Amino acid sequence: MSAKLIRVPLHPDTIKYIRKGHPWVTLDRFSKEFPKKDLMVLGTGKAGEPVALLLNDPKHKNIKARVWSLKQPFNEQVHLFKTTLFERLEKAFNKRTKMNLLEERQNFYLAFGEADLLPGLFIQYLNDHLLIQVYAGFWRRVEKELMEGIAKAFHQFLPANTPKHIWIQERNLDQRIKLRSVFLPGKKAPKPDPHFQLEEFGIRYQLKLGGQYDFGLYTDMAAQRKVLSPYFSEAKSVLNLYAYTGAYSLFALSQKCERVVSIDLSEHYLNWLEENLELNPDLERKNHQSILGPVAEVLESKVKHKKKFDLIICDPPSASHDGKQTLRALQTYEKTMKNMATLLEDGGKLVCFLNTHRVIWKKFHDQMEELGKKNQLKIVDKLKLSADCLGKGGFPEGDYLKGLVFQKNV
Ligand SMILES: C[S@@+](CC[C@H](N)C(=O)[O-])C[C@H]1O[C@@H](n2cnc3c(N)ncnc32)[C@H](O)[C@@H]1O
Repeated sequence: MSAKLIRVPLHPDTIKYIRKGHPWVTLDRFSKEFPKKDLMVLGTGKAGEPVALLLNDPKHKNIKARVWSLKQPFNEQVHLFKTTLFERLEKAFNKRTKMNLLEERQNFYLAFGEADLLPGLFIQYLNDHLLIQVYAGFWRRVEKELMEGIAKAFHQFLPANTPKHIWIQERNLDQRIKLRSVFLPGKKAPKPDPHFQLEEFGIRYQLKLGGQYDFGLYTDMAAQRKVLSPYFSEAKSVLNLYAYTGAYSLFALSQKCERVVSIDLSEHYLNWLEENLELNPDLERKNHQSILGPVAEVLESKVKHKKKFDLIICDPPSASHDGKQTLRALQTYEKTMKNMATLLEDGGKLVCFLNTHRVIWKKFHDQMEELGKKNQLKIVDKLKLSADCLGKGGFPEGDYLKGLVFQKNV
């Protein structure tokens, strides 16, 4: 890595937030002038004082750079890039190894981006596959060092689980699917199959990388499923809204729920849910029903038929189009909360997720609390990213996964 660092002035607000732990430089009149080629730049203050060593990302529409180091002298940090990268990977792997996650699931994060000081870099262990998701163009340009560091960290912390196949997915804002397979240094293998299976809490799931932007199972939700297991085990009937490939529905069946209903707009995902059911012959399939259709409409019809549930899981996409209109997740709650509340048994629980960094916790909490009050629902629990998915102080955007548990008439 070249030691010649270009200095780039930063917006005073950016400096303020960086000092509080925020790791991004977003697009503004300062960052739009950042150089187009340099891998790293030195962010400076008003008087030219050095503030942070940044990973430059000229092609990103909104996040123009990410903080790599606040430690001076910065020139030395540039020389130490590879050593620091290895140290951060090792630390991230070590943390997850200590959690013994493999005892209960074959899907977990080994690195969770900014929270592990690996900005824009997310590494998921998926059985004997490794999925590296990069949100910053920077990582493509240091791929050799990255692979070396990953190989070393596996050797040190998970020697028996070195992945057979490695995938890199470039995640970008326009949701294009860019997936390719790569190899650890010195290893070559036949072209891997992007369709494979894994187990989470004793349930088997079919994963399909590269077909869609997401691949069939949300690893960041695994810890939530575990946290929610007491709610599932006390529920006889469960309604899973925006069911996708059915992770929450299969989890409900595994907890011996006697009636599980999954609703999704996509036939493709509901067929995939059936595939997942087939992989798990021990689950009581007769206790499950899939309904194809927009959540709002199906809820109306369930209310009309006076159906009741002990537990409702609602995990809408950040923006949803139901054939008639596009609604943001918070708007879908405004539209559906009353019917969800009506469908709950007295004392029943409603779990509402919001999966976007664009709405901060306070706004989500306050708006949902208000909606809850109007419908005899009281907040009884709060769900946050946990276990392998870590958070970072001063970085609310990293805390994107939010969940609230409501109870009816308590
Ligand atoms: C974020 S995924 C849900 C993930 C799921 N809860 C899980 O943990 O596996 C969103 C799902 O909502 C579905 N969807 C989007 N808009 C919908 C609508 N209006 N009605 C029903 N399903 C919808 C999509 O097809 C997709 O499967």
